[in-house]
Amino acid sequence: MNSSISNKQFVGVDLGTSNTTVAFFDETGKPKVIPNLDGEMLTPSVVYVGPRSKEILVGTAAKNMEMLEPDRVFKEFKREVGTDKVYRTEGGKEITPEFLQAQILKYIHNSVRKYFGDSTSGSLKAVVTCPAQFNEKQRQSIKKSAKLAGFDVLAIINEPTAAGLAFGVNEKQGDRLVMVMDFGGGTYDASLVAYAGGEATVLASNGDKRLGGKDVDDIFFDMVQRAFEAEHSMNISPESHPVDWFSIREEVIRQKHMLSSRTEVKIVARADSKQVVIPITRKMLSMAVTPLIKKIEDITLETIKRAKVDKADIKHVLMIGGSSRLVPFQALVKGIFGEKSILGGSVSPDFAVGEGATIHAAKLISSEGKTIVDEGLRAIPAPSILHIDCMPISLGVAVLDSVGNGKLDLYCSAILERNTPIPCQASKCYASVEDSQTEFQIRVIQGEEGQKFDDSLVIGDGMLTLLARPSDKESIEVVMAYDLSGMVNVTVNDLVSGKTEDITVDFYSNK
Ligand SMILES: Nc1ncnc2c1ncn2[C@@H]1O[C@H](COP(=O)(O)OP(=O)(O)OP(=O)(O)O)[C@@H](O)[C@H]1O
Ligand SMILES: [Mg+2]
Repeated sequence: MNSSISNKQFVGVDLGTSNTTVAFFDETGKPKVIPNLDGEMLTPSVVYVGPRSKEILVGTAAKNMEMLEPDRVFKEFKREVGTDKVYRTEGGKEITPEFLQAQILKYIHNSVRKYFGDSTSGSLKAVVTCPAQFNEKQRQSIKKSAKLAGFDVLAIINEPTAAGLAFGVNEKQGDRLVMVMDFGGGTYDASLVAYAGGEATVLASNGDKRLGGKDVDDIFFDMVQRAFEAEHSMNISPESHPVDWFSIREEVIRQKHMLSSRTEVKIVARADSKQVVIPITRKMLSMAVTPLIKKIEDITLETIKRAKVDKADIKHVLMIGGSSRLVPFQALVKGIFGEKSILGGSVSPDFAVGEGATIHAAKLISSEGKTIVDEGLRAIPAPSILHIDCMPISLGVAVLDSVGNGKLDLYCSAILERNTPIPCQASKCYASVEDSQTEFQIRVIQGEEGQKFDDSLVIGDGMLTLLARPSDKESIEVVMAYDLSGMVNVTVNDLVSGKTEDITVDFYSNK
């Protein structure tokens, strides 16, 4: 059935650690960034929770409350999504990262509604992005937050993949390998994308969920703290000097940004009417961030290795994320890929991810057979780019084994290995632990081969009853499939009876 859908019924959202952006598919078939309720293109991912959670402020308004009520202002919580972390207000109320994430998305939802005016009705669909290294639990938690905010979630896609789509639509000149490097506020993601014949294939992704501009800020804060200690014998921290700390933080971030266009800056910090002045040159910055830059280098080179391509064949680099403006980062990129490799211009470092999410949303909608139309009901051509993503983390089952020290323990046996193109299917054979065993627990986990079970993430489990069998023969074949919508399907072939056993795996994400 070929029905139509208004271009104002779906958006793409980049839910960032520092900033959130949203874009829609405009009348010309291009993604266009939507301003928020305060007229800004970037919404700071900051939430203020008032007494008894009555008043919620999001974005710049929340940021401005930090000076007055620092205990009620929450930021950088994307780093805690999917963990057991809970925040508390001074009233003792528990606040989860999911709740905070949902407040940002609600505000974005309202901003979109206002921007579109009365021209829309019905639910607002969205593709929301997440770091490539996010595990299933973290992805589910984003989905939940988006639903809470009123979005009908079409898909969650990887941030560097989204940026790669925005790039692929903008630059149509021929086949090539592009290294996407996304250095944001909280995370660093690297993806190697091959463009060929209108198709973008992610060959490999790698990243660090805790490596971003925030870590650079922390280095600067440390310098300020040490200067106060040395010059005024004062210990200052966000707890001891909440009001001063707010100004120091703003000053540090302002000077960090300036250092991307100037060769030297001065941080002027005040606390308890005492002052320190810290001159910072680019050279000092470069030395201070060496460990971070080294991590970025390792992650990037590992991505190339996993993609099994020759570094010399990568002629282009797409640098995105606000922290990609840092001079030491740009120096690293030039060092790895050479002077001429860096792309600029056509794709914005701040908006590429949200724009790519919008393109993906338009693709998904048109692939359902729907025609996207503008207000005058004229059809808008869907983006022609195709994309193939890969498994960010291996999927497998828990096995009892003696890896390394010879002690029997639970480990991860990877069946669908990371960086395998999606959709995919693979199998592995296992033996029973004891000859008399008839009950088999299949625990589906996200983790790498040989990794300890405790360090992996269980995403579902199921029980299987089979005939007893000799434990020295691998006679249980586990087949695992992963489809385009992220669904995992598990079947078991009993190589003794020759039967295929249906196994119901209870996936926690469905609960
Ligand atoms: N001119 C600049 N020089 C250095 N850093 C900058 C500059 N402009 C922005 N940044 C930094 O970029 C970071 C924000 O980037 P961005 O908006 O891409 O992050 P994000 O998408 O919110 O985070 P993530 O993708 O990690 O979840 C902040 O740490 C900010 O201080
Ligand atoms: Mg980002």
